[in-house]
Amino acid sequence: MKRKVLVFAFCSVKGGVGKSALAVLSAKALTQRGIGTVVLDCDLLGTSLADALPLLAPGMQPNTWYTHEETVLLRDRRAVQSTYDDLGEPPPLFLNDLLSKANGLGTPLSRADVGFWKHQGLDEGPWFLPSSSIHGHVNVALQAIYADGGETWANHLGAVLRTIVVEYPDIRAIVLDLPPGIYAFSQEVLGLLVRLKHPQEGPQEALSDLLEVATWVPKPFLVTSQNRGDLWASLEAWSQLNYYDFGLVPVINRVTEAPRRLVGSVRHRFANTIYKHDAPEKKWVVVSEDAQLIPLFGEKGIDQVMLPPDFLPVLDRAVKEISS
Ligand SMILES: Nc1ncnc2c1ncn2[C@@H]1O[C@H](COP(=O)(O)OP(=O)(O)OP(=O)(O)O)[C@@H](O)[C@H]1O
Ligand SMILES: [Mg+2]
Repeated sequence: MKRKVLVFAFCSVKGGVGKSALAVLSAKALTQRGIGTVVLDCDLLGTSLADALPLLAPGMQPNTWYTHEETVLLRDRRAVQSTYDDLGEPPPLFLNDLLSKANGLGTPLSRADVGFWKHQGLDEGPWFLPSSSIHGHVNVALQAIYADGGETWANHLGAVLRTIVVEYPDIRAIVLDLPPGIYAFSQEVLGLLVRLKHPQEGPQEALSDLLEVATWVPKPFLVTSQNRGDLWASLEAWSQLNYYDFGLVPVINRVTEAPRRLVGSVRHRFANTIYKHDAPEKKWVVVSEDAQLIPLFGEKGIDQVMLPPDFLPVLDRAVKEISS
């Protein structure tokens, strides 16, 4: 039987709403439940998870890692090299390297190409593939992502997903931390997940390489704050995307308001639109503001912080789905 692979994906309309926090803490919680998990940092234009967390780059030999100090030095060294010169890509390995190397869904990368970073102090995972925030790499990503609306690199990401499943039998969950905005690359990646979720409904050819290696269980989340500008834009986008049965779950994060107040104002705002078909509060997840999480990036790692408890039922349902 093909193995079931969970794909959590966190996207948002606005930036800074908690995608990365929920992504890395979900990965930690999945690991604690015995699910081998890797986080793909797909925010190719923003800060890298390697800027935000004490991550260690993979060493030259399997199962070895550079120290944090060495990792920082290697990143500095790469930053002064010209982008993608004839020497190939020196360490540390970024997701960007794989996305520029892959040739589409059909072209497999090898295990030698795909090494995982780890978090200092967390020797059992979760694993990471951070994006590069080196100026030259961001420029390459910018061109790749906007040249064709993100389609090529979204397909390359598909090739990376396939390689991970083939080369790492222990991985049963992949967490995608997407860039803010649900257009271009993010939208294409979400589109790929929809097709993996409903393979019988579209042309399967392009997907066959992915479908033959796993049964994919995509769980995309649209993260928003309670801020009304963000919430309205997010629910508006959500209602349109859901029309195609996206299975996209809104996550209202950092909530300090009473849930009834939140529902009341959404009901008032969308009385003539979304509420005609749907009561969004039946589908959304509310995650309360958690003071522990505020200093997460930059000051702390994820070793001392936990996934907000409001998100645990969602995570446990997903774990059940891939375990049955
Ligand atoms: N439930 C929460 N309670 C309190 N703080 C939170 C919560 N979720 C996230 N945060 C904090 O909010 C800030 C922004 O979160 P995060 O960096 O995860 O957002 P993001 O959506 O990934 O941002 P970007 O779009 O810039 O990548 C971080 O300091 C994070 O620790
Ligand atoms: Mg982020």
